[in-house]
Amino acid sequence: MILSLNRLFVLKILLWLICLLVFAASQSINATTMEGPPWRILFFGSDDFSLKALIALTDEFKRSEKLISKLDLMFIDDESVAWKYANEHRLNRIAYPPESSTGLRDNYDIGVVASFGAMLRNDLIKEFPLGILNAHPSLLPRWRGASPIPHAIMHGDTETGVTIMKIKPDEFDTGDILMQTRTKIGPHEHTPELLSRLADESANLVLDVIKDLPKSVQNLTPQGNENATYAPLLKQEMTWILWKNWTAEQIYNRHRGLSHLWPVSTIWKSFVVKLHNFTVIPATKAVSLETLAGTIKPSITAPKVELNRPHNLQALPPETWLRPGLVMFDKSVKALRVMCVDGAQLLVPSVTVSGRKTMDACGFHNGFLSRTKPYDRVFNEYSQIKGEGSTKPSRAKVSPKRRG
Ligand SMILES: *[C@@H]1O[C@H](CO)[C@@H](O)[C@H](O)[C@H]1NC(C)=O
Ligand SMILES: *[C@@H]1O[C@H](CO)[C@@H](O)[C@H](O)[C@H]1NC(C)=O
Ligand SMILES: *[C@@H]1O[C@H](CO)[C@@H](O)[C@H](O)[C@H]1NC(C)=O
Ligand SMILES: *[C@@H]1O[C@H](CO)[C@@H](O)[C@H](O)[C@H]1NC(C)=O
Repeated sequence: MILSLNRLFVLKILLWLICLLVFAASQSINATTMEGPPWRILFFGSDDFSLKALIALTDEFKRSEKLISKLDLMFIDDESVAWKYANEHRLNRIAYPPESSTGLRDNYDIGVVASFGAMLRNDLIKEFPLGILNAHPSLLPRWRGASPIPHAIMHGDTETGVTIMKIKPDEFDTGDILMQTRTKIGPHEHTPELLSRLADESANLVLDVIKDLPKSVQNLTPQGNENATYAPLLKQEMTWILWKNWTAEQIYNRHRGLSHLWPVSTIWKSFVVKLHNFTVIPATKAVSLETLAGTIKPSITAPKVELNRPHNLQALPPETWLRPGLVMFDKSVKALRVMCVDGAQLLVPSVTVSGRKTMDACGFHNGFLSRTKPYDRVFNEYSQIKGEGSTKPSRAKVSPKRRG
């Protein structure tokens, strides 16, 4: 009797010890991965957007190693601003893709991506105990993809933000969200200014997330796909004005979104013309182009114009020779006035005609407009010089020697 009681007791103790061991083992696994700080971080970055987050992390790392004990850069391009900064500050730099991802697990707790420029390999994502975070300059799921900032501006969004999400294997910009902040887009804000603001914001958020690890990576909200939009790579043809389709505001939004890469452009006869620094004059304040045209009687001489009118406009009756793309020089403001499909006008102070130096509006009037009948002073679409449906301005490649 006494013996069996003792046996039971020993058994109980043994069981209890085993439980304790298992618990201790799981605790010790978590201790190396989930406790902390300090954290060991691998940063993935390349451009100006990456740089601000990299600077914020480096400053913290240099200040004290209590939060960050290791900070390395993974890079694609050794000419990038992120690489140069890491080099200057003696951060370890690893080329992407690494020869093998084994070993990463022993060296890093977490990855941080800000505008890296490549989809990360699956085997690599799995190596980070706390996962890989991505700072994306948009209000995901709106503007997933490569160039969210110009797309937000081009589409006239009035609000954007920064989203910190956890990267999912095999998918682009669909990860669960840790944090999101919002900001207004100014009506005259261009891509470089907005990018700089969002880069500051993302640097702050990344640091906040790191300070709050591991809690910050545990509270995740799925994105959903319902209102997702995609921001594909930018192409120069996105700046070719479709006069029959785009309102003055839409053209201005292209300008704000893309002019840091390419000015918006159009066709005058067979020349490519780039429009610089223009503003929008609303339909209510538009100046009559017929008046600017002067003495002719256009309703008799002008051919009838067939208009695409997606915008339901009263400003341009179908019988008129007024049409989107019509351009006159307004001496009183030393600018070109270009008619848009919504009755609003572009006020253009200067242009570049292909192969020539940038000229002011007066120069364009003297060299080009004044040699043409007023009703024929029209900017065309690329498709109109090459036939409907075409997208490339092949005939628009013109010799610079020809004079207007
Ligand atoms: C250890 O971490 C894992 C994964 O995060 C978690 O599911 C588990 O509950 C943790 N174990 C303990 C003992 O905290
Ligand atoms: C999607 O957008 C609509 C319209 O703005 C909104 O009512 C809806 O709640 C959004 N859905 C999600 C999942 O955010
Ligand atoms: C546009 O305006 C800015 C600021 O006034 C000026 O510095 C720049 O030279 C202008 N660009 C062109 C092409 O006229
Ligand atoms: C321009 O508008 C017309 C008429 O609404 C439409 O059929 C056409 O697809 C639009 N073209 C482009 C390139 O958006």
